[in-house]
Amino acid sequence: MKKSELKALIKKMTLKEKLCQLTQENAVMLEKSGGTKITGPSTVTEFNEEEKYALGSVLNFNGIEDAKKIQKQYLERNRNKIPLLFMQDVIHGYKTIYPVNLGLACSFDMQLIEELSAMAAKEAALNGVKVTFSPMLDLVRDARWGRVVESYGEDPFLGCEIAKATVKGFQGDLGKYKIAACLKHFAAYGACEGGREYNTVDMSERTLREYYLPAFKAAVDSGVRLAMPAFNIFDGIPMAANKRLIDGVLKGEWKFDGVVISDYCAYYETIKHGYAKDYKQAAADCLNAGTDIEMVSASLIAAGEELIKDGAIKEKDIDEAVYKVLKLKNDLGLFENPYGDMDEVEEKAFSLSAENRALARKAANESAVLLKNDGILPISEDKVRKVAVIGPLGNTGDILGRWLCLGKYEDSVTVYDGVKNLLEGKEVEYAEGCKSDLFDVDESGFGQAVALAKSSDVVILCLGEDGGDNGEGTSKMNIDLPDVQYKFFDEVRKVNPNTVVVLFTGRPLSVTRLDKNARAILNVWFPGTEGGNSVADLLFGKANPSGKLTMSFPYSVGQCPIYYNHYNTGRPRSDDNKRCPFQSAYIDGPNKPLYPFGYGLSYTEFAYSDLTADKTIIRENEKLTVSVKIKNVGNREGTEIVQLYIKDWFGSTVRPVKELKGFKRVTLKAGEETVVSFEIVNDMLAFYGADLKRKAEPGKFSAFIGTNSDTNDCIDFELV
Ligand code: GLC
Repeated sequence: MKKSELKALIKKMTLKEKLCQLTQENAVMLEKSGGTKITGPSTVTEFNEEEKYALGSVLNFNGIEDAKKIQKQYLERNRNKIPLLFMQDVIHGYKTIYPVNLGLACSFDMQLIEELSAMAAKEAALNGVKVTFSPMLDLVRDARWGRVVESYGEDPFLGCEIAKATVKGFQGDLGKYKIAACLKHFAAYGACEGGREYNTVDMSERTLREYYLPAFKAAVDSGVRLAMPAFNIFDGIPMAANKRLIDGVLKGEWKFDGVVISDYCAYYETIKHGYAKDYKQAAADCLNAGTDIEMVSASLIAAGEELIKDGAIKEKDIDEAVYKVLKLKNDLGLFENPYGDMDEVEEKAFSLSAENRALARKAANESAVLLKNDGILPISEDKVRKVAVIGPLGNTGDILGRWLCLGKYEDSVTVYDGVKNLLEGKEVEYAEGCKSDLFDVDESGFGQAVALAKSSDVVILCLGEDGGDNGEGTSKMNIDLPDVQYKFFDEVRKVNPNTVVVLFTGRPLSVTRLDKNARAILNVWFPGTEGGNSVADLLFGKANPSGKLTMSFPYSVGQCPIYYNHYNTGRPRSDDNKRCPFQSAYIDGPNKPLYPFGYGLSYTEFAYSDLTADKTIIRENEKLTVSVKIKNVGNREGTEIVQLYIKDWFGSTVRPVKELKGFKRVTLKAGEETVVSFEIVNDMLAFYGADLKRKAEPGKFSAFIGTNSDTNDCIDFELV
């Protein structure tokens, strides 16, 4: 439809129909005929039949059959024949589930991330999804927050790169099998105090702009079509009603012209925050702040007509919001074909196909991070006769993480399956030993598992978080493994020193005790549908781990929030192993994390040498090239993620000790060497200075190139 036709359509709509178009409810409501009561944290609202079939969009539906049935009955009843828009949280797969975001980020492989997003988009589009509530671009520094699992970690530069890759993969040019992407959660949700879910966020404008906004801006610059304000307050105002950040920054400064959709019941929750005195004010505040669609709560429908009468909202703003929603539907081709890319035959052939599984397996292989290895890995399959797979995460399909859409545990390859697949013909046995439930202390399974361990050549011990203990609403005070898992680990390693730990987790865990006593720790996050095959690939050397952490692993929860790009303080700690009075330190532990940002081991070794720069002084419009030689000095091929960090020594505000400004994946055969170069341009040196204007300031800089953020190999240069 042309713009004029959309505008004409809006003119035909009644005010009530417009208010319904700006409201999103769960799809289940449209599956039942007759009136439906909205209950739960929102207002209790009666929808009559006409209102129900005037709703603009739905979320949470069960695939193609559901979507076809709902759309058909909806269009039969919708007076204006405006198609319904189906939205879903397609976060890390739709049926073929790939690693959780915090794991996938460790691949530092933007091409792979784009391909995975495109695969997920196609599986989703074939099932009727037209919008995904992805990418989640919250920067995170506190592992107590359960949603770090959905994030890409603590670095803004990496966040920007992944924002571009995911928007391109999911959305592209909105062509066939593409779905509109939605940046979330705008903004700074990851900085909730104490890592406690939905808690207060309070920070300086500079911190917001330097760390928490860049990835959202990158998504906007990539053409993302929707934006979702967060649940939290910023500057004391709930984000759904935060006019300065939505209208001012997102739409004003950044020129975002897509659809702003609230988070689940966030309109209604402005009352709980103590901001709106009732749901009428909630509807007015959120609409007037620039939010277009109300998700699940129904204050706009309940109060919209009265608010217009009272002049609290303007019908022209309603019309503008409705136009944006109709334009999105039009750009998605729904007016021409309300069933989009839905296709049963193609869906059956494509979803969970061998190709999709292979891509998910590759992603799991690249996402895993080898945290420790005394040489016991990789296991040589020729040298083992009997392998024990032991532990609560060893034979479960619940290795998918959260936000699974139609991903199913029964589609997963468990570790036990994967090891049997790889070692066909050899003896592979499983014993659970203990549970992964957070408060389970039952040791009755130890005996059988320990006996199996004793009788085996090697033990693959699968420990970690329970699949349900990360994601929304799972903040933790303690981010270590449960004691029962440590006790179990001690019993197993007592009877068999050839024990390797496979760690499943959705967050950095303070596994200091594990690091002390394990011979090897392979962190596989929640690796997805092909997790078991990937674990086998990695443990038996069919794949060489290359993942690098994108979020620091603390020694102790007492260090949280902890992140590599911190400020130096006026009394920086001089020695992590000594008590340091009158320095910025703890008397009972180190400042440094257990494993730093950018850290990850390989089965081979990479030697860095000859760090050089082509000049040592640059002017504003000049660039500098830094180079380093890298050699694979081990005995097998491997991939190294070479990282470039920059330190700005002085500024009109203090500057972080170093910041990631580039990375390259380099694959080298044993003995092979290469030169890796990075171009440093002025924009990489820019920051929000004392005047809150983003620019580079003249002075001394250092460029570091290394294998993780702890690297000290650097070369100095000056901006004049
Ligand atoms: C949830 C989440 C958000 C998600 C939305 C719809 O509460 O905060 O990330 O997109 O509701 O499921």
